[in-house]
Amino acid sequence: MKLTILGGGGFRVPLVYGALLGDHAEGRVTRVTLHDVDADRLGAVARVLAEQAAAQPDAPLVTVTTDLDEAVRDADFVFSAIRVGGLAGRAADERIALAEGVLGQETVGAGGIAYGLRTVPVAVHIARRVAALAPDAWVINFTNPAGLVTEAMSRILGDRVIGICDSPVGLGRRVARVLGADPGTAWIDYVGLNHLGWLRGLRVAGRDELPRLLADTEALGSFEEGRLFGPDWLRSLGAIPNEYLHYYYFNRETVRAYQEAKQTRGAFLKEQQAGFYEAMKKPGAPALAAWHRTLAEREATYMAANREAAGVGERDEDDLESGGYEKVALALMRAVARDERTTLILNVRNRGTLSVLDAEAVIEVPCFVDANGAHPVAVAPLPYHAVGLVTSVKAVEREVLEAAEGGSRAHAVKAFALHPLVDSVTVARRLVDGYRAEHPGLAYLTRT
Ligand code: G6P
Ligand code: MN
Repeated sequence: MKLTILGGGGFRVPLVYGALLGDHAEGRVTRVTLHDVDADRLGAVARVLAEQAAAQPDAPLVTVTTDLDEAVRDADFVFSAIRVGGLAGRAADERIALAEGVLGQETVGAGGIAYGLRTVPVAVHIARRVAALAPDAWVINFTNPAGLVTEAMSRILGDRVIGICDSPVGLGRRVARVLGADPGTAWIDYVGLNHLGWLRGLRVAGRDELPRLLADTEALGSFEEGRLFGPDWLRSLGAIPNEYLHYYYFNRETVRAYQEAKQTRGAFLKEQQAGFYEAMKKPGAPALAAWHRTLAEREATYMAANREAAGVGERDEDDLESGGYEKVALALMRAVARDERTTLILNVRNRGTLSVLDAEAVIEVPCFVDANGAHPVAVAPLPYHAVGLVTSVKAVEREVLEAAEGGSRAHAVKAFALHPLVDSVTVARRLVDGYRAEHPGLAYLTRT
């Protein structure tokens, strides 16, 4: 079986390869093709993978290429994990938004819109090449903003593209652990859009255990989301929000923390990762050890500005374990390729799951997965406050898709202006101009 990874020179590719190395069963991935636009990055990651594979005779064979068609042809699965504009682009997204006093996070607010505007055309091109050259392939989209990008690709690939994110699974696991429940068997009642969802319950043997957690102040203080949002707000909501909702519920504080931080997240990662890729150019330097060091530092500083804004200090040891996005990807691939049936929280088309959204809207929801793909399960409706955010942000995403399709600046302005975290049409216009001046990838926004 052939797996193609687009963005194959990306820093998190060894996580995926490590997960593949643990799979020895019949029907596993035997060939991995890494594609990237940057040959140096491909070389660096290939070195890490070679060290991972050493001493494992059945390790999947790795090839690298900068030719998209060659990469995609005959693939059974395509993982799309690209970053259009690189980390320099991410840092610029943050800087330009913060200069206007609004959030520039890579997936939330103005930054997410800018990133979406330059990523959607590339993702659509990829979807077209997959449809032409590997029409039976399943595409698993990791590329952020994951919900929007998955929806863009689903217009071409239908339900053969599935988006993934590790934050819901991470949240479910943390809540289960605090409750002493087994995350593997508990039912996680979670729904929303990517990076905009709520855990409304956690059922063990048919009983909802979340009220017990909400009543326990000490337990709420013992995990990441509990500390970020604080017990009182969680009780008011009656749910545990995805950590990215911190940018909404504490917008002023997070914007200020970002403005006051020594470096934004994108600027930090740009420097940190440049160090890693530079080191990989020296022959003989141990690759895997350097990668592990860089990864540990990245995990430890994840959402540091938010923790600063919430006044909750360092990241807890228990929270350092990432959501396991490679595990979600592998479980999804196994379920589809070998009919190993399972339930995963995924980004898929709504069908009729959330009645406030149309059937094509990509949402994040628990899905039953088998050889026929991902099937969203029925969930209870969202309360009005959540409906408000979800429908507003979906409207923004639709404007981004419209802008990308027609090259329309007016739709781009509308996307920024309608976002709940952008408070003025004037600011929206300046953001479009600021981003266009910065990013060559936005030159297509010419129509009025
Ligand atoms: C979480 C999010 C991902 C994001 C990742 C890394 O897992 O769900 O969407 O890519 O964190 O974030 P970072 O700020 O380290 O790039
Ligand atoms: Mn994510």
